[in-house]
Amino acid sequence: MTVELKGKRILVTGPTGQVGRPLVEALAPHNEVFALARFGKPEDRDAFTAIGAHPIAVDLADGSLDAVPEDPDYVLNFAVMKTGDWAYDLRANAEGVGRLMLHCRRARAFLHCSSTAVYAYGGHEPRTEDSPLGDNHRVMLPTYSISKIAAETVARFTAHEFGIPTTIARLSVPYGTRGGWPWYHLLMMQNGVPIEVHPERPNVYNPLHERDCLAKIPGLLAAATPEVTTVNFGGSQAVAIEQWCAYLQELTGFEPVFRENPEAFGSLQIDTTRMHALVGPTTVDWKDGMREMVQLLAPQLLGN
Ligand SMILES: NC(=O)c1ccc[n+]([C@@H]2O[C@H](COP(=O)([O-])OP(=O)(O)OC[C@H]3O[C@@H](n4cnc5c(N)ncnc54)[C@H](OP(=O)(O)O)[C@@H]3O)[C@@H](O)[C@H]2O)c1
Repeated sequence: MTVELKGKRILVTGPTGQVGRPLVEALAPHNEVFALARFGKPEDRDAFTAIGAHPIAVDLADGSLDAVPEDPDYVLNFAVMKTGDWAYDLRANAEGVGRLMLHCRRARAFLHCSSTAVYAYGGHEPRTEDSPLGDNHRVMLPTYSISKIAAETVARFTAHEFGIPTTIARLSVPYGTRGGWPWYHLLMMQNGVPIEVHPERPNVYNPLHERDCLAKIPGLLAAATPEVTTVNFGGSQAVAIEQWCAYLQELTGFEPVFRENPEAFGSLQIDTTRMHALVGPTTVDWKDGMREMVQLLAPQLLGN
């Protein structure tokens, strides 16, 4: 099952972000795209206007939604706030998604982007959608995991109460033209900065290239129901931080320095069974994707 994202009205939140930006760039030529962010930098607004999207400046914490269309066909909620201010982050992430869903309650489907940061650490056991939740990312992003759990709960409540077809996709490690975690690791390797890893090694994730992310959005929207579909969302290949850093070293010559920390996020490998049943496996091989990322962002580093 899938939906066609052509000729549709699509509201994308978080369009200036790492994940949202390439989605808007890909969708805008074929759809009427509304891009919602605070737009602190005027040049961001101009960039969206230039590609034919409609920028809408709103703070999801408390801004008026009057300028937001009430009747988009689809909503892709990729905004996230991780300021470390508990009251603000909970209001913007959790109350924000509720306000947005109520405002757009006539949408055909609402896709809320969550994170595998909602899972409690559980060693090397791949996390299923029913695995225990926990405050996984506290060490680096104090409000993140709890805000994302709260946002999921508000999204479910709103979908159930108001009959809004909704999918919650728990994203693993996105990467691509706008960088991502592996890109930061490469910068750390270049500058001799230690990379923190959990002592129960290797630290395994499911990196998702942005082309696969885009390709799976129609299927995720098609899976939306008022009962809410919650699904892990990552690359079909499980890859450890240690593995991708070794590959980045092969490409660039920079050596990773790992520092063990029992508080580090640790493995968050996902069980892909439900994702594969709903939208099929991903197609970008992780080595190809990461090489492409370096080629694009820092070609001078290749072959050092
Ligand atoms: N990047 C990752 O490694 C990763 C991993 C797992 C899951 N995710 C999830 O993927 C989604 C996208 O993440 P990302 O990394 O692309 O985020 P990001 O790069 O930090 O971008 C955040 C976006 O949210 C907007 N935003 C922030 N505060 C806002 C507010 N108060 N009101 C309205 N908009 C606001 C930002 O625009 P302005 O600043 O202009 O408002 C920006 O467009 C999020 O749900 C995140 O939790 C990301």
